[in-house]
Amino acid sequence: MNFFHLYDSNIRNEAPIAVFDSGVGGISVLQALLKEMPNENYWYYGDSANAPYGTKSLEEVRRLTVAHVDRFIRAGAKAVVVACNTATSAAVRYLRQKYPAVPLIGIEPALKPAVLSKNHPNVVVMATPMTLREEKFHNLMDRYMGMAHIIPLPCPGLMEYIEHGNMQSEELELFLARLFEPFEKQKLDAVVLGCTHYPFVSRELQKVLGNHVTLFEGGPGTARETKRRLAAACLLRNSLEKGKIHFDNSECSEDKRRLCEKLLNINFC
Ligand code: DGL
Repeated sequence: MNFFHLYDSNIRNEAPIAVFDSGVGGISVLQALLKEMPNENYWYYGDSANAPYGTKSLEEVRRLTVAHVDRFIRAGAKAVVVACNTATSAAVRYLRQKYPAVPLIGIEPALKPAVLSKNHPNVVVMATPMTLREEKFHNLMDRYMGMAHIIPLPCPGLMEYIEHGNMQSEELELFLARLFEPFEKQKLDAVVLGCTHYPFVSRELQKVLGNHVTLFEGGPGTARETKRRLAAACLLRNSLEKGKIHFDNSECSEDKRRLCEKLLNINFC
């Protein structure tokens, strides 16, 4: 796909922002981007055919992520948001070196606001096994270690529920209840949703955890950072009209497209 055919070919600012995830989870970030910048054009790409990324090897996720980002940039995207914590930890540093002139924004678990939400809180970080294993997360955790009790919780198997459009069911509630079985829930203060799929199961999570636990997600911070980066590069779209959203997925089924549209309209907060 070449976006210079779809958008005014001479105006760089009209080009879309590519938003990428291993599947449909990055739509939680797209929602935040739309709140921050409704007038931008977006090209959302989910690699559902290769999902999940979080249980693959680092090399495999890096290879897939780099191949997709190469394609977005070749097709004329003006910026790339890697709306996947797993792909960010595997490839963003390398991609920034490869494309120093392109605004490339990654996402990381929203640990800082969770740690600062209370005096020495008990914070659980839910994420994929790869995100929690990688150096990027260890560095983040080291930064806040003295200010909170931080417990990483790998959640293999959870993103599949959202990929299959299951955001509310007894089966999902049981899965979440089992995940949190080892914890004394009354003692938990905050849970960080360190995978972009997880905000879509916030309601079920809150049911399992109780309303005293505050959930934190990285989408809004990533959207604010994207706006800052575009403004600094003079790449914001100067239009009073709403932009277009183009959904694209490596699993090109009608069901996936419908799921993307459904997720975009879910109010998970
Ligand atoms: N949505 C992705 C993230 O934020 C991960 C899901 C997967 O395992 O592919 O990490």
